[in-house]
Amino acid sequence: MKDAPIGVYDSGLGGLTVWREIRRALPEESLVYLGDGKNCPYGSRPREEIRVLADAAVGRLVEEAGCKLVVVACNTATAAAIDFLRAKYAEVPIVGMEPAVKPACLATRSRVVGVLATERSLDGDLFRRTAAKYGEGIEVLMVPGRGFVELVEGDRESTPEAEACVRAAVEPMLARGADQIVLGCTHYPFLLPVLERIVAGRGVAIVDPSPAVARRVVQLLDRDDLRASGKRQPTFEFLSFAGEEYRRRLELKALESL
Ligand code: DGL
Repeated sequence: MKDAPIGVYDSGLGGLTVWREIRRALPEESLVYLGDGKNCPYGSRPREEIRVLADAAVGRLVEEAGCKLVVVACNTATAAAIDFLRAKYAEVPIVGMEPAVKPACLATRSRVVGVLATERSLDGDLFRRTAAKYGEGIEVLMVPGRGFVELVEGDRESTPEAEACVRAAVEPMLARGADQIVLGCTHYPFLLPVLERIVAGRGVAIVDPSPAVARRVVQLLDRDDLRASGKRQPTFEFLSFAGEEYRRRLELKALESL
């Protein structure tokens, strides 16, 4: 079991931003990445539909790929299905995305925090509960990143169109005084160059939860004594429901993001 791979799942390319952090934190582990691709974006689908898609993906990682731990590297799928997945696949630890609202609320000086995520993440309990728990006395502005996922999936993240789209979501947060912007969708770190350009010189921190998720994976492997034995070369596999061309894109994007 120790040498079984870790599974990482997202609706598409976004979870590669988490895959990269896990790879850095655990260079001896084999990883299987499943980017659905066929049903992406998930962001405005009904919760029940996302649960069915997440079930198929996690089922494939656990039952076919034999993963010893699965990371749901998708905030939208975490918000819609994490309890269901943990109950159904109780034999493997399942790590979900944590909206990084807590560190942002602890760090803010202006007492205004911006959160960018998909529509379905923002209207779910997970984001609301986290904001209510840590955001007392803090204005938490939740703004959907409309079009962001499509930009990343379309390889258009460094275009003027991307800049205009991100600016439209972020400028109103800045105008309200936000000094922290939480990335609540795993696709969004691919837009970091654009985001950083927009907030440059304005004293704003951008908070990405993926390093914390990788640390959680390390903790669980240690807790359950599941770390790779180190006797085998790690392998990296990429799977998709969208066919070979998309699968190959995942592979290339992963390698270029290292
Ligand atoms: N990357 C995903 C997330 O973290 C989902 C994006 C989408 O498919 O809409 O929410």
